[in-house]
Amino acid sequence: MAYRIVLIAGDGIGPEVTAAAKRVVQATGIEFEWDNRLAGQAALDAVGAPLPPETLAAVRNADATLKGPTATPSGTGFRSVNVELRQKLQLYANYRPARSMPGVPSRYENVDLIVVRENTEGLYSGLEHEVVPGVVESLRVVTEPASERIAQFAFDSARDQGRKRVTCVHKANILKLSDGLFLRTCRRVAERYADIQFDDSIIDAAAMKLVLNPKSFDVMVMENLFGDIVSDLTAGLVGGLGLAPSANIGHGVAVFEAVHGTAPDIAGRGLANPTALILSAVLMLRYLGEKDAADRIENAIRTVFTTGKSRTGDLGGKATTEQFVDAVLAEF
Ligand code: NAI
Repeated sequence: MAYRIVLIAGDGIGPEVTAAAKRVVQATGIEFEWDNRLAGQAALDAVGAPLPPETLAAVRNADATLKGPTATPSGTGFRSVNVELRQKLQLYANYRPARSMPGVPSRYENVDLIVVRENTEGLYSGLEHEVVPGVVESLRVVTEPASERIAQFAFDSARDQGRKRVTCVHKANILKLSDGLFLRTCRRVAERYADIQFDDSIIDAAAMKLVLNPKSFDVMVMENLFGDIVSDLTAGLVGGLGLAPSANIGHGVAVFEAVHGTAPDIAGRGLANPTALILSAVLMLRYLGEKDAADRIENAIRTVFTTGKSRTGDLGGKATTEQFVDAVLAEF
């Protein structure tokens, strides 16, 4: 039976990179039933809401969703589409691997680590208020159940992938209650995984260690805001946003998207690097249990970069989005 995949083209370079990823995924020969849905500015323009209820329902009922980046219209009173999707569908785990790409110039070779970010609470809970004019508060919510499920997800991911160590990244020395709870919960979960080592690192020290020696880490787990920042840092360690994929995982629902945004500066010109979204589609195929197809795509991309056959402008090349996809498909 065909997999039911919701495709959200999104805004800016979204339609270009989603079309590219769809082409590559289709080339595997696996049967997909694509359900195109709107979100972001495109949805606001068409139906007056950035995340229409029909889109939310379709994502909930699909086997998986492949999503292009969406712009959140600012000053309109609407919440971020991504934050809304993650909270409403309880996509609690944001999984962001950072792996060096052969042939892509970057500061380090052989970086291979995973950032697991708690995706539903922390400073992204959306609880902000003005105390008095000129003073606002944003609440940073940390709960034991959410900390437990993200820690468990990090250890399960480590085990599935034959990884050796999970590091809890936190600021428990200062945020004694909130990050204290997060760290204590990670420690407790670690006791159930005797085969995986566990340690912890304060966020500022972790940032320095990542830049000095990314090999100090294997799987890193952290709350929402730290994960947002650290995963862009790790994307930078392996060649930039054009290469960084991600998965948002809940119970029976999952959304796969690139780490990058809508790139308005290059949108509509066929210049976007589709690799990050294609690699997100690879994560989707693994999630669906289609390991062979995922390996084929990943190997084809790595061959294109290793041989230097095609490269988009962000990586110093001249290829258009479509030409890059042609090069990947030629390696199938
Ligand atoms: P951005 O990631 O869109 O762009 C940053 C820089 O990276 C730009 O110079 C852009 O051209 C370049 N870039 C990004 N992706 C690229 C690709 N695939 N190929 C080649 N170059 C690429 O970040 P920015 O400018 O901060 O955000 C723009 C918009 O995107 C904002 O409205 C933001 O809210 C939204 N956004 C959406 C996300 C999502 O839907 N998942 C994630 C991040 C931002």
